[in-house]
Amino acid sequence: MLKSPSVLMVLSQLGRRSEVKLARPLHQMVKMMSKQVQARRLEGIEKNPWVEFVQLASENEAVNLGQGFPDFPPPEFSTEAFKQAVSGDFMLNQYTRGFGYPPLVKILAQFFGKLLERDLDPLKNVLVTVGAYGALFYAFQALVDEGDEVILIEPYFDCYKPMTKMAGGCPVFVPLHPPPAHDGQLMSSGDWQLDPAELASKFTPRTKAIVINSPNNPLGKVYSRAELELIADLCKKHDVLCFSDEVYQWLVYDEEKHISIAILPGMWERTLTIGSAGKTFSVTGWKVGWVLGPDHLLKHLRTVHQNCVYHCPTQAQEAVSSSFERELRFFGQPDSYFVQLQKDVQKMRDHMVNSLLTVGMRPIIPQGTYFLMADISTFKKMMPHLPGSEGEAYDSRFVKWMIKNKGLVAIPVSVFCGSEHKKHFDHYIRFCFMKNDSTFEAMDDKLQQWKKELEP
Ligand SMILES: Cc1ncc(COP(=O)(O)O)c(C=O)c1O
Repeated sequence: MLKSPSVLMVLSQLGRRSEVKLARPLHQMVKMMSKQVQARRLEGIEKNPWVEFVQLASENEAVNLGQGFPDFPPPEFSTEAFKQAVSGDFMLNQYTRGFGYPPLVKILAQFFGKLLERDLDPLKNVLVTVGAYGALFYAFQALVDEGDEVILIEPYFDCYKPMTKMAGGCPVFVPLHPPPAHDGQLMSSGDWQLDPAELASKFTPRTKAIVINSPNNPLGKVYSRAELELIADLCKKHDVLCFSDEVYQWLVYDEEKHISIAILPGMWERTLTIGSAGKTFSVTGWKVGWVLGPDHLLKHLRTVHQNCVYHCPTQAQEAVSSSFERELRFFGQPDSYFVQLQKDVQKMRDHMVNSLLTVGMRPIIPQGTYFLMADISTFKKMMPHLPGSEGEAYDSRFVKWMIKNKGLVAIPVSVFCGSEHKKHFDHYIRFCFMKNDSTFEAMDDKLQQWKKELEP
């Protein structure tokens, strides 16, 4: 008998005799190949929260407040622009300039040049990517080397960690700290702060980059100028790059103001500013993103881009470019989509905050984004032993229980932090409030029912 049956042999046996019983499942036999199948850089990053929780949501027909996307139409001017791009000039069906469709890089340079307070060269300072995910991936692949350390601030958008690892880097975590609980008052995401000494202690000679995300997903924190200055000073002191993920920059509420770290003195040269048309015009399916930065950094991202994706879809780029042209005309005025969207989404935020309070969750009021984190400590005390796999964090067990028993989907916050600090975050869950009226009605029905069940 052969010690390691080849995959081909097993497959041909299966083809000949469908009743054949395998001693081991096929995937285990594949493992018996003399060579390791999976690239080592994928080790430890196989599990993905979106795959798991999106699947659970669909199996249970629950109200999906987990994944971050709007379930209402994008602005008509954007969808009209896309229709025009598809039915108009036939050349828009073909490849365009690899580093970005010329009208799009031009308008992005013009638009963001105003915000970043500098002249941007559309050909050198702008790169169009497949969503902000694409921009992030290029940043890590182009600038993080084997053994480099990358500082991630917890809770962080979950892909930063696997992207650091896939580039051969080593993630170094530093948490935002909530203030001590105060007498019944609701907390704001702004109350969560970095400890300056702790942050400074994470910078070492091996630190290559820090990732910041303002407004932050999942907490909704909008970094103040003083907080950005603290980070900027450390970057300059230790000669560290900054990957600044600003995809939610238009969704900032109350009196808050979004500030790009790239405008702080000495930061443009070391910062990549990342944006997403998906978040900007409520079109997450278009997957158009961009990265802005100095040519001496962007040229390395272009090297990655030209050797993997190279072109992004031309028609989607044309539609995004027309949408920005429209926004530039209305910039800062009441008819601006960004102004209207911000007002509408703030109402959604306030609605969700009030609804979650009815069952005893404690939402942390987000200053930005379309997410909020809710504290579920009351439930942790009430029902500490929910079913789950060994070592599974409480928030993950709670979300699974909530999906099955209450018909509501959220995302456990422990997926947004490193294993060392999971314990600090395992009593929070993240909800998305970028939802239409009928989703809100369905959510309120479920919460009212839950409230009744809680009554003595
Ligand atoms: C913080 C953050 N960055 C990047 C992305 C990815 O954006 P895109 O859909 O444009 O790839 C997301 C999407 O949820 C996000 O929340």
